[in-house]
Amino acid sequence: MPLQWDQEKYTTGYSHIDEQHYQLFDGLNSLLIFLKDSSNIEQPEEQEKAVELINFLGEYAASHFRDEEALFAKSDHPMKIVNEEEHRRFVAKYLEYKNKLTAGAITRGSLIQLHIFLQSWLIKHISKVDIALRDCAAKEEAEQTAASDFTKKPSVFGRFLALFQKKRLAA
Ligand SMILES: [Fe+2]
Repeated sequence: MPLQWDQEKYTTGYSHIDEQHYQLFDGLNSLLIFLKDSSNIEQPEEQEKAVELINFLGEYAASHFRDEEALFAKSDHPMKIVNEEEHRRFVAKYLEYKNKLTAGAITRGSLIQLHIFLQSWLIKHISKVDIALRDCAAKEEAEQTAASDFTKKPSVFGRFLALFQKKRLAA
């Protein structure tokens, strides 16, 4: 079944991360469409297309992981390590599949297996780990609000100066 975006389930609080997840969903759906439409996967052009789809998913995931890890690190969130470990395990597993797939001719069966792995991993990972980014986004927002409140409030020196000027005017 194609993946469908569910804002409530998958949103992380960061629109650029949600957009990246959406692109990964899209890549996986393209792989599914390819599997449905491809009549002869052994053909060189079909093999080429399959490699293109596999490479896109791996490369995009790797750059996306870097963005996510930077956000967890910035907030020093307790899920930081779990997230990084899951990413490493994902990359290792993905490479294992990719190497097996590209070592010989890509078969429909092996591509289906890869799709199942990628899709189930991604859904589980986003809904169990990545949603912890909501805490990071909330923390950042609170910090920004506090910083803007601070700049709005006059400092002790500012209040003293205002009082001094008021007294001078009254004298
Ligand atoms: Fe993640």
